[in-house]
Amino acid sequence: METIVKDTCSPTIGVDHIAAYVPNQYLPMEELARARGVEPSKFLSGIGIREMAVPSPAEDIVVLGANAGRAVLEEAGISPKDVGLLIVGTESAEDKSKPTATHIHELLGISSSCRVFDVMHACIGATYGVLSAIDWVRGSGKYALVIAADIAKYGLNAPGEATQGAGAVAMLISRSPRLMALEEIGAYSKNVYDFWKPLDKDFPIVKGAYSAECYMKAVLECFSGRQLDKTASFLYHTPYPALVKQAHGRVVKMMDENLDPRKHFDDKVARSVLYASRVGNIYTGSLWLSLVSFLENRLVSPSESNAADSGANAGLDSCYMFSYGSGCGSVLLQGTFSSTWRAMAQMSRIGERLGKRVKLSVEEYERLMYSDEPGNWDQPTFSHFKFEGVRDNERVYARIG
Ligand code: HMG
Repeated sequence: METIVKDTCSPTIGVDHIAAYVPNQYLPMEELARARGVEPSKFLSGIGIREMAVPSPAEDIVVLGANAGRAVLEEAGISPKDVGLLIVGTESAEDKSKPTATHIHELLGISSSCRVFDVMHACIGATYGVLSAIDWVRGSGKYALVIAADIAKYGLNAPGEATQGAGAVAMLISRSPRLMALEEIGAYSKNVYDFWKPLDKDFPIVKGAYSAECYMKAVLECFSGRQLDKTASFLYHTPYPALVKQAHGRVVKMMDENLDPRKHFDDKVARSVLYASRVGNIYTGSLWLSLVSFLENRLVSPSESNAADSGANAGLDSCYMFSYGSGCGSVLLQGTFSSTWRAMAQMSRIGERLGKRVKLSVEEYERLMYSDEPGNWDQPTFSHFKFEGVRDNERVYARIG
């Protein structure tokens, strides 16, 4: 009989720091609704999105990802030379063979003795990357960098258009993490066609209502049969906030029939979907942007409605994190916040940035996202990198400043 030896000295591993990057332009959903002849309340409350992040022509997923990676290393005070593993999760790659990670590796100045690759599984790719990185860090003791970068495009006038978005999130994985330890506690996978991107198509094929059903089934499979902690926070992959609200209602019912789902959502989930409602779906980065949104807004308004804010973690001990990728795969993670979470979380400034972005008209958005000739876009940008175009079939990037 095989004997399983439990390693009781296993080090704590998780996210040491997290940083996000969003483009400097946005489209108000109210204006998109009017242009599409839709009642604005459908986008604003039926789907739950107020603003859509729109990348400039110089911001492809390499540029989005490199900016997030640069921010996480700089804020954490870690040299790129100390990163031994770089994983990029994306489903918007520009090449069918050459990994996006190879460009980001160069732009960030990470050493050549680093393992560098992409993970592709719809929106869950980066989470699988984080789990692989945790296993790798356990053995090596070094730092791993995982970057989620995507641009979500469904096509003009498509039902999914209202859920588009663009952005990147970078997670630095380490032993004794200063932000949070992470553990996988559940998984559910099944072969379904809910959202997919055939190689010969420009946009995904989506069975909208069926994709929401598949998401919901995965939520129920991952959460059911567990002794859930009602005082924890709950973070979800957020294709659009209204779906998260529906999903959490089902989880609350499963947890305790007597809990008020609306109040529980307001206390334990709402902060995490604030940025998704101002950025849109960023696919692989969506769950991780929820974490950034949750942390920043937890700092701004610390008190829970029924818990006093006292002590180092102040009502912030743990969270559940549900990750979903169409196709489909899902995992449920449990995060335990470190006593130093506040110091790490307060470096994030995404909320401030969202308030300083340039507002676009529907015409500008259509030109930037859907025209073959978007023209020169010289609006100010937060970016430290730019995509300069394709020369001799090679994509060319440059550092700014
Ligand atoms: P739709 O057909 O335009 O909208 O598609 P609808 O008719 O289903 O309405 C949406 C909601 O708005 C409904 O609420 C309406 O009642 C409400 P619900 O029934 O769901 O509670 N509504 C209104 N509310 C207020 N005022 C009004 C009004 N009118 C209607 N006037 C859909 C919506 C989200 C399906 C579409 O945008 C879509 O196809 N999106 C893309 C797919 C998607 O996001 N699926 C989510 C699960 S799959 C997933 O998460 C994976 C993914 O991230 C990709 C990956 O893994 O790579 C997408």
